Amino acid sequence: MGYLQVPTIEKRIADRPDQIADIQVNQEGLKIKLSDGYVSELFPWIWIRDHATESHSFSVETQQRTVDVFSEAEVSPASAILGEDNSFVQIDWGTGIVSRYSLQDLLGANPHRDLLSFSPRLWSEVNFELSDLQVAYSETPTDSQLRELLLKVQHYGFCLVENCPANSEATDQFLENLGPYFNSHWGDFWEFENDLAEEDSAYGCEYIGPHNDCCYYDHAPYLQTFHCLMHDGTGGDSLLVDGFAIAKDMRESEPESYQILTSQKVPYQCINTDISYCSQKPVIQTNNNGELQQICFNNADRGKFWYGYEKTKQFYDAYAKFYQLANDPQRQYRFKLTPGNLLIFNNWRLLHGRTAFTGLRKMCGSYHGIDSVVARYRSLALDN
Ligand SMILES: [Fe+2]
Repeated sequence: MGYLQVPTIEKRIADRPDQIADIQVNQEGLKIKLSDGYVSELFPWIWIRDHATESHSFSVETQQRTVDVFSEAEVSPASAILGEDNSFVQIDWGTGIVSRYSLQDLLGANPHRDLLSFSPRLWSEVNFELSDLQVAYSETPTDSQLRELLLKVQHYGFCLVENCPANSEATDQFLENLGPYFNSHWGDFWEFENDLAEEDSAYGCEYIGPHNDCCYYDHAPYLQTFHCLMHDGTGGDSLLVDGFAIAKDMRESEPESYQILTSQKVPYQCINTDISYCSQKPVIQTNNNGELQQICFNNADRGKFWYGYEKTKQFYDAYAKFYQLANDPQRQYRFKLTPGNLLIFNNWRLLHGRTAFTGLRKMCGSYHGIDSVVARYRSLALDN
C-alpha cells in the first residue's frame, strides 16, 4: 500500500494475538508479553499515565487530555494487573484513579501514521486511462463522491471533474466541498486571464515548464485546482509530471543525487513591489519513515545560493538530473483543459506546466492547504 512502506504499529497488532499473555512490571514501567512470544519495549509509567483514557484523564467530548503528568511529583502505580480475559491491563494509580489499557492503547500509539503516504500509484509514464481519473460533477456531492474524488487524487496525484458548469460561481461552490481554501497572496479563489500587467509568468501566454507552485512558502498549498472557463485561441495544453515517480527513480538509479536533493536546502522566493516571500527547503522532502512527502521544484522561483565550490557543482548536477526527468515527454501527461473539465491535483507531488497559447484564456482555480485536506481525508475515512 504505502510507498517505502514501514509496517505501522497497527499492522503489527493485526498480525498478533489479541490477548495479553503476561505483564512484567518494575519500578520504571511495564512490558507486555503476547502468546506468540512477542515482548514489548518497556513503557515508562509517565507515558502510561499520560496515555490514560478514563474520564479523569481524557475528555471523550473534546478529545483532549485532562491529566497533567508534569504536575505530579512522581508517577508510579499502586498496582498493575491483567484484566478480564487478559484483554487489558488495569492500573491503580493509588489516587482513586484506575485506568485500563487495551492492546491497541499500548501498541497503537503511532506518531508516524501518515495519511499522505497511503496507496500512491506512481507513474513514470502515462499508464492510466482517462476513465481512471474522471469523476462526475455534482452540485451537491455526497461523501461517497468526494471520497472517490480524493482517492483518485491520492492514487494518481490528480483527477478531473467532468461537466462542471463553466463559470466561476459553480466552480467555487464545488471546491468548497474540499474544505477551506488556502488563502495565498493571490487570494483564496482566483480568476485570471492572460494579462502581462501582472507580475507572474502564469499570467502570460508563453510555455511554462514543469514546476511546483508556491515553493517560497514554508508550507506550500497541497491541492491546486484549475478550470478553464474559456479560450478562443490555440495551444495552452496542460502538462503534469509525477514528481514522486521521479524521486523514486532517482533514489534507485542516482542515489548520490537523490541524497543531495533530499538534504540540500534551496532558497525559493517571490518578490515584487508589495511582497517578499522566501523559504528554504530541499527539492525532495521525506518524512521520518523515508516516505516521500513533497517535491519543491521551481526553476523560476529559485533564489540565489552558494554552497561552496564542490557542493554547488554537485547540486547543479543533481538538480539537472531531476530537471531532465521532469522534462522527459514520456513522463508528461499532456491534455487540453476545456470548459467543463475541472482539474484537481496534488501540488506536493505533481509538477505542472502548460504549452504556449494564442488568444484570450480565462481560468479560475484555488489552493487548499495540507491541514484542511488531511482533515477531510479523516472525515471521509479515506485510508480505510
Ligand atoms: Fe504554476
